[in-house]
Amino acid sequence: MQTLYLVSVWIHILAASIWLGGMAFLVLVLVPWLRRTPGAPAGTLLSETGRRFRSVGWVCFALLLVTGSFNLSMRGVTLASLSSAVFWATPFGRILLTKLVAFSLVLGVSAIHDFVLGPRATALIARHPRSREAAASRRHAALLGRVNAILALVLVAAGVMLVRGSPW
Ligand code: HEM
Repeated sequence: MQTLYLVSVWIHILAASIWLGGMAFLVLVLVPWLRRTPGAPAGTLLSETGRRFRSVGWVCFALLLVTGSFNLSMRGVTLASLSSAVFWATPFGRILLTKLVAFSLVLGVSAIHDFVLGPRATALIARHPRSREAAASRRHAALLGRVNAILALVLVAAGVMLVRGSPW
């Protein structure tokens, strides 16, 4: 069981790294380069890489949820403790609650970004790249990307504190 637990934490951290790394590449490398390179096929590049990363991202979310739940069970968290107010009032319970709220928000924001705003933005950019609608939809999609980046920082911090305790 100990080996399975170690493999689960390993997969958990790998899935977190792949999701975070992919977001960082898009936000810190690809989008700034596209902005500085007028002739680049921004619409196609964003839609093709965005679509591919979308699948990778949702696989990571599924892996994080499954391994996260298993990690919790290996730390003695049961369905009974999850339904007890006493558990959620403990330092571990408060950190876990923060993490689960942040994760739920990430799923919601990602669903809107990946299946509504993202596709709408890339379609508008492809059809009318210089239109005000295209610029507005790109801004909205980018804003959701930034919200997810902030939530990701909260999730990693909560993960570290679940293992090592909180500083306050
Ligand atoms: C995008 C979502 C998530 C990210 C980025 C993330 C990130 C992390 C990281 C980086 C750690 C390792 C911390 C360390 O060893 O110092 C960790 C640990 C942990 N995470 Fe997550 N996590 C996510 C989602 C979840 C979810 C949904 C759950 C619960 C269902 C969860 C439960 C845990 C648990 C229990 C640990 C402690 C592992 C152990 O026992 O050592 N995580 N998380």
